Amino acid sequence: MESRTGKKKSVLNKMHDHFSHIAPQYRQLRTTDLGPILFITNKLRDLAIINAVDIGCGTGRYSLKFVQHLGEKCHLFCLDNNMEMVRQLKEHFVKNNIRNFTTIQSDSHKMPIQTDSLDCVMSFNAIHHFSLKNFLRESSRVLKNNGKLFVYTRLRDQNAKTIWGMHFPSFNHKENRLYELDELKSAFEKDKNLNINSVKFFEHHRVYPLEKIVEQVKNHHYSTFKFYKKYEFKEALHKFVQNVLNHYDDLDKISWKDQNTLLVIENKQ
Ligand SMILES: C[S@@+](CC[C@H](N)C(=O)[O-])C[C@H]1O[C@@H](n2cnc3c(N)ncnc32)[C@H](O)[C@@H]1O
Repeated sequence: MESRTGKKKSVLNKMHDHFSHIAPQYRQLRTTDLGPILFITNKLRDLAIINAVDIGCGTGRYSLKFVQHLGEKCHLFCLDNNMEMVRQLKEHFVKNNIRNFTTIQSDSHKMPIQTDSLDCVMSFNAIHHFSLKNFLRESSRVLKNNGKLFVYTRLRDQNAKTIWGMHFPSFNHKENRLYELDELKSAFEKDKNLNINSVKFFEHHRVYPLEKIVEQVKNHHYSTFKFYKKYEFKEALHKFVQNVLNHYDDLDKISWKDQNTLLVIENKQ
């Protein structure tokens, strides 16, 4: 029988392979929202120089917007443990003429960044992949006193309200890595340096043709789909399309509201 550690390791390996495979299309498959970037950059606007890191940066869809908004006064470290993601990010930044960044291939619990050196640590759609306790410990270590940690995520109940949560069989059951707000809050409270400053909720109105939604699913744009066995996935996708056909009249305009949460945390030493 497989041990708990063995199981955890095989999930991590599966995820790593998934992210390597999806990296070249990742930016096209996911929807990028400007709201959290405007909020974060606004919170940092009074600083003359900004040193920041994006943990689990992927191919850099949020990292790029962050740097574009703050311009030359910031330097961004883009950290991800997946080499292919980091490679795609580098190409994307160079194409966009961005030079004030450094890529780091490393784990979220081992940031090769100087202690007490950053104004901002942020992470988008990635915290459920990390060891939360170790990520928080490292974030607190690299942040200056009064530095800010921004965590942007879908909570478990928000995931259930997505088009997939509502209509894709077993989606909510398979996705057991996401947190509820209380769970995140109590994890922050356990770290003596990290204090929750505020929690902001975002709502994004989506309107997509069915064809586009099916394409996203087939390409596993959410890693949750990797938890289905092949035959199970095929059956679930079929049922999903039927469910959508039963619920919506205009298949060119399937609409729903995606919700996300942004936690703003201050480091007080
Ligand atoms: C869902 S993607 C989000 C990427 C990006 N933040 C975005 O929103 O486009 C999660 C990312 O976290 C990275 N990741 C997963 N576990 C990690 C870890 N332990 N340390 C660093 N990066 C990790 C993956 O390689 C992947 O690029």
